[in-house]
Amino acid sequence: MLLIQVVLFGLANSLTYTIDNGKEPLHTVSESFISVALDTGLISLVNFSNPNFLPLVKHLAPMYFRVGGTTADTVLFVDSSEPRIRSSIGEIILDSSFLEQLSAFTKQSDVNILLDLNSLLRNSDGSWDSSNAEELISFASQHNIELNFELGNEPDLYDYLFQTTVTPDQLAQDYINLRAILNQYGYDSSYLVGPSMFDVGNSQDTQEYLANFVSDVGTAIDAVTYHQYYFNGEIATEDLFINSSTFNLFEEKTKIVTGIAGPDRKVWLGETSSCSSKGAVGMTDRFLATFLWLDKLGLGAKLGLDVIVRQTIWGYNYPLLNESYLPNPDWWIAIYYKALVGTKVLDNSHDGEELRTIRLYAHCAKSNSLWGDNAIVVFGVNLDSEEGSFSLAGFESRSESAYSFEFTPETDLYSQIIKVNGEVQSLSEDYELPAFAPKAVELKDSYTMPGHSLLFLVIPETNVEACSA
Ligand SMILES: *[C@@H]1O[C@H](CO)[C@@H](O)[C@H](O)[C@H]1NC(C)=O
Ligand SMILES: *[C@@H]1O[C@H](CO)[C@@H](O)[C@H](O)[C@H]1NC(C)=O
Ligand SMILES: *[C@@H]1O[C@H](CO)[C@@H](O)[C@H](O)[C@H]1NC(C)=O
Repeated sequence: MLLIQVVLFGLANSLTYTIDNGKEPLHTVSESFISVALDTGLISLVNFSNPNFLPLVKHLAPMYFRVGGTTADTVLFVDSSEPRIRSSIGEIILDSSFLEQLSAFTKQSDVNILLDLNSLLRNSDGSWDSSNAEELISFASQHNIELNFELGNEPDLYDYLFQTTVTPDQLAQDYINLRAILNQYGYDSSYLVGPSMFDVGNSQDTQEYLANFVSDVGTAIDAVTYHQYYFNGEIATEDLFINSSTFNLFEEKTKIVTGIAGPDRKVWLGETSSCSSKGAVGMTDRFLATFLWLDKLGLGAKLGLDVIVRQTIWGYNYPLLNESYLPNPDWWIAIYYKALVGTKVLDNSHDGEELRTIRLYAHCAKSNSLWGDNAIVVFGVNLDSEEGSFSLAGFESRSESAYSFEFTPETDLYSQIIKVNGEVQSLSEDYELPAFAPKAVELKDSYTMPGHSLLFLVIPETNVEACSA
């Protein structure tokens, strides 16, 4: 009797992730999969001359650097070399010197600008008034500024925020118009993405809006964009960041968007963070927020997203870099992700519950002199405060050991300092990353994760065909 109980107990606690060992990866994501945003509302506050900023952004290259957000729809471009009477109140001026600084900064850091243009400059017939955008594009073209574009932000909130509406058919026409303008100014190989939907999921209206836009816009866009936050910063509680029911909200919404976009279109998560309304003070820039961030990277790739744009690189309560332009925990997660996780996504399944506390994903690993070419990397979170364990199945490895990178906070969930395998992470005075120091672990039947921790586990010399070089 006792023996049976022990066996049942053991079964109830085992969680096995089975990695798909097919010939092809499930998806292949962009090299710029992790990208970042600077909210348009921050352009007068950000300091591109801060010596920490450039090297820390460069460590994240390649990626897109989006300048966009709600206030993009109030922005006016002004060529500061030409005398001009400053216009009405309420507008944000994006002047040519900002554009030149942004361009110099992104060229030096090897990242690509994604610029969100003001869609609410409108003619009396409701069509987009492109004249200010053309001034900007013309200026940029003359100054060899490389740009990718979006037109407007969250059109499904225009009524709520700006007491106006733009129909999906009209917006699609405006995108087609913008594509033609870009081609005319030599930006034919630049990306144009949109329409930056805020909420596709809760209402039938927003789903119809996106579906109409997508069918009308044709090939004028290179990717469909939507935004996602798990909850509003104003109602943030510790539990919401680590409660497994929060994590599934992203999947529901994303499947609706990828379903509307269809199999032939790329989908970008064009702006995202843990919670909306500029984040939550003392929460969204702490270790507490890393679980939702890493899970979003894993789940987003598994669901077929090509790029994820993290709001925001600096500023507000959820930045990757703090007020001094130095790393918050989420920046370190992005750095390790970029170093370890390749673009080929492996399907996986698990035998756990919907609300399991260990959530894992698998990709082909980036090659590295330590583990060579045919490695896979399994990564994810343990949301429980207690140690947990999992098993892996579906593939074989000829290696005797795996390489483990285990992330824990320096103190508690509210720590801004992160540890990898027990070592506090920090940059050298020259902004160099710490040497990778994985822990070699035996390949075994079961792996453990400490309570409230994150893990990247690299398994070399596997027979996963999709990862054979
Ligand atoms: C921007 O950073 C530079 C270098 O640290 C500093 O000299 C300058 O005063 C800063 N500018 C503003 C507006 O804070
Ligand atoms: C997690 O969230 C669910 C759904 O909101 C709630 O019922 C549950 O009590 C939460 N768990 C904890 C530990 O607070
Ligand atoms: C930013 O982070 C650095 C390194 O962790 C820390 O020393 C500094 O105090 C932080 N600055 C602010 C303003 O939080």
